[in-house]
Amino acid sequence: AKIQEHEFVIQATPVKRLCNTHSTITVNGQFPGPTLEVNDGDTLVVKVTNKARYNVTIHWHGIRQMRTGWADGPEFVTQCPIRPGESYTYRFTIQGQEGTLWWHAHSSWLRATVYGALIIHPREGEAYPFPKPKRETPILLGEWWDANPMDVLRQATQTGAAPNISDAYTINGQPGDLYKCSSQGTTIVPIDSGETNLLRVINAALNQPLFFSVANHKLTVVGADASYLKPFTTTVIMLGPGQTTDVLIQGDQPPSRYYMAARAYQSAQNAPFDNTTTTGILEYKSAPCPAKGSSLKPLMPSLPPYNDTNTVTSFSRSFRSPRKAEVPQEIDDSLFFTIGLGLNSCPPGFSQSQCQGPNGTRFTASMNNVSFVLPTNVSILQAHHLGVQGVFTADFPTQPPLKFDYTGNVSRSLWQPVTGTKVTKLKFGSRVQIVLQDTSIVTPENHPIHLHGYDFYIVAEGFGNFDPNKDASKFNLVDPPMRNTVAVPVNGWAVIRFVADNPGAWIMHCHLDVHIGWGLATVLLVDNGVGLLQSIEAPPEDLPLC
Ligand code: C2O
Repeated sequence: AKIQEHEFVIQATPVKRLCNTHSTITVNGQFPGPTLEVNDGDTLVVKVTNKARYNVTIHWHGIRQMRTGWADGPEFVTQCPIRPGESYTYRFTIQGQEGTLWWHAHSSWLRATVYGALIIHPREGEAYPFPKPKRETPILLGEWWDANPMDVLRQATQTGAAPNISDAYTINGQPGDLYKCSSQGTTIVPIDSGETNLLRVINAALNQPLFFSVANHKLTVVGADASYLKPFTTTVIMLGPGQTTDVLIQGDQPPSRYYMAARAYQSAQNAPFDNTTTTGILEYKSAPCPAKGSSLKPLMPSLPPYNDTNTVTSFSRSFRSPRKAEVPQEIDDSLFFTIGLGLNSCPPGFSQSQCQGPNGTRFTASMNNVSFVLPTNVSILQAHHLGVQGVFTADFPTQPPLKFDYTGNVSRSLWQPVTGTKVTKLKFGSRVQIVLQDTSIVTPENHPIHLHGYDFYIVAEGFGNFDPNKDASKFNLVDPPMRNTVAVPVNGWAVIRFVADNPGAWIMHCHLDVHIGWGLATVLLVDNGVGLLQSIEAPPEDLPLC
């Protein structure tokens, strides 16, 4: 195993998209940021220097961070932000993970442009569980705003305005040639007849689950969130923000150019088609050159409509772990978290017309009716480690405070979230089950719920209200898929299981970024009761303080 050292300089860089040049926050001047490639067992050492005018942190999405919680990155959870002019070195070892992950800013909305792929190859000398593909290509799906994303967020969190939908979706940072001024940079993915290309697809978009498909080509799914899957073949995949999916694509079609496209699932209704779609081009090396100035467009794949939940359901039901999984069969801690939106009164200082919920309210979001608020003067992990009182309370409800028809059309007055920095304490080593229940209080939605510090098994998913008596019989305790982000079905539920074997403070949140600001998050505090430093490494000397 190697030690790999990198330097990330966070800086404003001119980036031209959709006909205009913007001062964009990047890593090392690159947008998207650099791809990191490691082998399982390697240690990554990344010095992050902040030369931008915003506070920043970097999160290594999906990395287990065993005993290295200080390197996880979410601001005010495991560290204070890196202030302009300062730096912090993240140091962690990859332990038993293979496949596609990514890294992104975990501070405000900086991840709109501060993100990149993190690819973990098998240990040296070891092979993939499928024939080695001739090529491998990261496919980062993202969003682009003409406005400064930080301003868009500020408006959304303060007034609860639904955020402006982005001006374009992107593949590897490029909107694609169907957008104005965008044909030059369109992402081209090479393939040749008889070859296989491993596409490492990452949903780095801020606020939309996405469908992805390639015209005339089948996709063989072999992994997701850096866990292998029993291979299956499909024409379209769906990824919630935060999720990754590895697919093999075969050069088995006439040599030509084919569009690959992504489109928002659950986009705002009536959104113009082109704002919710992006394209790149799969290009056979032996394809005949198009004549100069020819307007011949590649073939477009047919993508499901924005509300096609059936396709999403049958896709996620195809996921199986390739071998018998080590799913906890018995449970020590059973938690039930509702996830969804809520409505609160307009904050002081804002006129009711600025608050965009019904009747002058503002949109909020919550788990178990608590809107999570980050601390501001110390991180939760630091506070726990140093015994600082008054930063958080350990009374996050393990069950919702009210029981009613969560997915029915019920009165909104039932559900007015309260704010708090409430965490759930879990005993080190305990076997945990969490039921995640969508609510339709304001609107039902597919929420991608991401847990830091862990991979978990998704043992079941369904629609309506989770019923412990009826639905337990549907649990797959034999070969369920393992992931770090679960796309909880719209108007439905998902059940996850894991062993709490990683001490630390781990945020669990909706990866639709606007929902984090609105409070759809909580923290799981895992401790073995003998003092944190017995169980995790000491905080690095350069750990940023507030
Ligand atoms: Cu990919 Cu808490 O994030």
